[in-house]
Amino acid sequence: MKTLLAYASKHGTTRKAAEKLAGELKGEVKIINLQERASRNVRIEDYERVIVGGSIHIGKIQKSVREFCQGNLDKLLQVKQLGLFICCAEEEEKAREQLKNAFPAELLEKAAARGFFGHEFNLDKMSFISRAMIKKVAGVEKSESKIKDDNIKKFAEELA
Ligand SMILES: Cc1cc2nc3c(=O)[nH]c(=O)nc-3n(C[C@H](O)[C@H](O)[C@H](O)COP(=O)(O)O)c2cc1C
Repeated sequence: MKTLLAYASKHGTTRKAAEKLAGELKGEVKIINLQERASRNVRIEDYERVIVGGSIHIGKIQKSVREFCQGNLDKLLQVKQLGLFICCAEEEEKAREQLKNAFPAELLEKAAARGFFGHEFNLDKMSFISRAMIKKVAGVEKSESKIKDDNIKKFAEELA
């Protein structure tokens, strides 16, 4: 099955998670970064499976992900198989709430897989303000990587 994996990422976590997921999927996988201009030329109808992912910053997914979903809603509702995921630091109920707010309800309903792929805090890559916020709000003093490999595998299995 030919797969389009479209993502957006601020400090690289979602890109890493997308690459891990691509490694778990069978068939041809085309990965595109929705923050790059070239991604606007993608032809969704050329793919049987589409996976869209982004990360949560102050409760919201990237604008590029929202615009991609909203602008291509009809086409995404037509694809044979859809998967949606987020990278975020919150867990359980809060993570579910963030996922619900990140994607249009119709797409969440259609999706064969919905995933939470964990998070990283890369203090070195953050702006001064982000770093100060993360230290204060999350109490994080050093960089951490908590990508949920098991969830990525499960997500791939759900789409198999
Ligand atoms: C400034 C800032 C705000 C964040 N806000 C949230 C948030 O509201 N909810 C959450 O679950 N995670 C939050 N996170 C954690 C990110 O989702 C996490 O760092 C993720 O790995 C970022 O992925 P990316 O590098 O692909 O953008 C925040 C991180 C930063 C740096």
